[in-house]
Amino acid sequence: MRNIDEHTITDAVLQSLAATPDARLKELMGALVRHLHDFVRETRLTEAEWQAGIEFLTATGQKCSDTRQEFILLSDTLGVSMLTIALNHARPAGATQATVFGPFHTADAPRVGQGADIARGAPGQPLFVQATVQGPDGEPVAGADVDVWQADEDGLYDVQRPELGDMRRARAVLRTDARGALRFRSILPTAYPIPVDGPVGTMLAATGRHPWRPAHLHFMIRADGYEPLTTHIFRDGDPYLDSDVVFGVRSSLVGDYVEHGPGTAPDGSRVDAPFFTLDQRFVLARPD
Ligand code: BEZ
Ligand code: FE
Repeated sequence: MRNIDEHTITDAVLQSLAATPDARLKELMGALVRHLHDFVRETRLTEAEWQAGIEFLTATGQKCSDTRQEFILLSDTLGVSMLTIALNHARPAGATQATVFGPFHTADAPRVGQGADIARGAPGQPLFVQATVQGPDGEPVAGADVDVWQADEDGLYDVQRPELGDMRRARAVLRTDARGALRFRSILPTAYPIPVDGPVGTMLAATGRHPWRPAHLHFMIRADGYEPLTTHIFRDGDPYLDSDVVFGVRSSLVGDYVEHGPGTAPDGSRVDAPFFTLDQRFVLARPD
């Protein structure tokens, strides 16, 4: 293999992969090489641009830590995460659609009982959520584990507040009751910018993009015999619904957050300020 030029190099690299024992790896590597080479050819990439790309990816890796995954943020902001989700979670009609997982889930959220106040002091307007989890035939899904997590009214998750240390708030794990129902109190989610103090923030600024996500609650629902569901419930009227920086909005995931004047909340408690309610139905799919 000699005298390789811009016309023959793609085939040469593909041939070098010919003995890859794992067929799927061979397919992925081959497609990656073909698309990368096409990118270089189509854009007539300069050496300075190649160097800038290497430096950008290096900085992206260097920004990663136990609590920060800049590569996933890059994937999210380039639409690669949502594309992968869309391809892998084609939902049967009627099933709740999936969206991005995001970086703010933690494995140590407190497990709480029905009706708990999961905000635990996080600032925000009161929100009372009543949800049901059903299967494709409308059957209640009892005993489903439901992770909920969200930002507070300052647009921050607990893990973004160093002053909280390991304290967890505005997140919890609940279990559906025999009717597949779930009740909890929390706070109204607000729109927030994704972290921009790294290379992804530089990329957004350089391309004239804003960093905002529309307000949402995160849900991750797991139940025996059903496909796990990772999704959000967005707030209608949010100014960023049509320009989510990570392309995660689906119309079917815009929930009905209803505002109420001060008075008696759905859990019977007296609330002296305006509060919100959200009634939400989730429909799980069965594995193929
Ligand atoms: C989130 O909703 O928590 C999120 C998702 C993708 C990137 C950043 C944040
Ligand atoms: Fe979020």
